[in-house]
Amino acid sequence: MKVLRTVAEVREWRADAGSVGLVPTMGALHDGHAALVDRAIRQNDAAIASIFVNPTQFGAGEDYAAYPRSEEADLALLEKLGTAAAFVPAVEELYPPGDDTRVQPGKIAAPLEGAARPGHFTGVATVVAKLLGIVTPDRAYFGQKDFQQLRVIQTMVRDLRIATDIVGCPIVRAPSGLALSSRNAYLSDAERASATALSRGLMEAEHAFDQDERDADALRELVKLELAVWQLETEYVSCADPLTLEELIGSVERAVLSLAVRVGKARLIDNALLGIRLQDLDEL
Ligand code: PAJ
Repeated sequence: MKVLRTVAEVREWRADAGSVGLVPTMGALHDGHAALVDRAIRQNDAAIASIFVNPTQFGAGEDYAAYPRSEEADLALLEKLGTAAAFVPAVEELYPPGDDTRVQPGKIAAPLEGAARPGHFTGVATVVAKLLGIVTPDRAYFGQKDFQQLRVIQTMVRDLRIATDIVGCPIVRAPSGLALSSRNAYLSDAERASATALSRGLMEAEHAFDQDERDADALRELVKLELAVWQLETEYVSCADPLTLEELIGSVERAVLSLAVRVGKARLIDNALLGIRLQDLDEL
């Protein structure tokens, strides 16, 4: 596996790599990331993963400095999976001196994570636009885990006429149901146990939806009920339109149920799609 640290090295590698699948990550890799990489390997001549803890998507007081970093183990995992190349730039390589341009997503970035983390999606869209411009991949892979992020990127690529297919990949979970996340490293054993309430709440609501519960408020309440059992500090529980992420009222045909919860030092998010499949999002 080639470890590339500069934009020039990536461009040189890309020139004769054939069709390329890009998996952008912030490292501290787990099986969720590995599933994206696997898919990129299968669907392209070559897969490249980027590892870059992007400073512009962290707000003041967030965990940029503390974010888990494990480059050596990450590179070993990528190599084992069969990744052709890893792009591991320094901050100055992606944000050169004088860097002064930002990609500002629109309405799709306003609610939920955008409201809780002002500026977050501007940082995400900016770094992903840079990575897509540097690598020019045929496809780029993003997890449903960060559902609003996936929608922000799909919208950006559509609007900026970027010639990369964005591929959404399902959430990978631990046997307990907990969605894998680099931030799970912040959890104690007891916190890890209570964090299973997130996926259980979503499953309760999914089950109710399958039994024809269609009221947005009732679906939100089912999730909240499960979180209340564990007395978790809930930031939001949302039942929103899966395309626009606008909050839904009354009867819903399709929705994304999502939540953000604080468990100890960690801020965890999770979601479930109701009445729509991930792969159908782009066609609506
Ligand atoms: P990071 O949190 O490292 O996630 C990288 C990719 O892995 C994202 O597309 C995310 O949705 C996906 N992912 C994380 N956990 C997952 C899980 N349990 N199942 C499936 N996919 C999962 O998201 C980012 O980094 C950054 O914002 C980034 C896009 C790299 C821009 O800096």
